[in-house]
Amino acid sequence: MNVADAVKARISTRAFLDKPVAEETVREIIDVARYAPSGGNLQPWKVHVVMGRARERLVETVKKAIADNPFADESEIAVYPPKLWEPYRTRRFEVGEAMYALLGIPRDDKPARLRWLARNFEFFGAPVGLFFSLDRRFDKGQWAHLGMFMQTIALLAVACGLATCMQEAWQTRAKTVSAFLGLSPEDQLYCGMALGHPDPEAPVNSMRSSRAPLDEFVTLLTE
Ligand SMILES: Cc1cc2nc3c(=O)[nH]c(=O)nc-3n(C[C@H](O)[C@H](O)[C@H](O)COP(=O)(O)O)c2cc1C
Repeated sequence: MNVADAVKARISTRAFLDKPVAEETVREIIDVARYAPSGGNLQPWKVHVVMGRARERLVETVKKAIADNPFADESEIAVYPPKLWEPYRTRRFEVGEAMYALLGIPRDDKPARLRWLARNFEFFGAPVGLFFSLDRRFDKGQWAHLGMFMQTIALLAVACGLATCMQEAWQTRAKTVSAFLGLSPEDQLYCGMALGHPDPEAPVNSMRSSRAPLDEFVTLLTE
């Protein structure tokens, strides 16, 4: 598979088969992702992987935390700015609507939407979960490098016939997850990632999100 094909084939997969991924495969993916670039070669990323019993324990722990306090918000990082402006507001709205349409969840069915959101906390059924964190002393540059590392993992997963979904949803339970993983106080949890075999039958996985044309965001100076 060439790079362009992998980039286009990577989508956020939100339904996985109940099929394990070998620990060796996870190790190989991360082993190659190490070659992602970072300014000054700092390699600031840290990743915790949960699979097998550890994944089950984490899912149970977070489920219990949600049952105990359904509206708690442990986020340390705002997933979006408080008031999104155009064109970002519309983009976010449209991708959400497209997803709920495929899921057959009507716009006003808030309980069904919340039930669906809670699937994040089961990794949408994926057998492997990854959590990315960064030392709090790092600044915006290193956050960008962490993103490059994450995308590299997502592309390598595609090359292995696997699929991923990045999951900032875990931010709302950042403290619970950080405690479970044993993150040091200096480290800040950023994002989760579900990894597994995509369910080809699931309608939600047929979603292809749109992208803005080049002239909306490219400024090409030639002279
Ligand atoms: C850092 C990051 C965090 C995300 N968090 C979530 C999430 O918590 N739950 C979810 O269903 N999708 C999540 N997404 C998926 C985005 O909605 C998705 O990438 C976007 O709509 C583009 O679609 P595509 O990934 O299929 O190309 C996240 C994506 C990124 C890059």
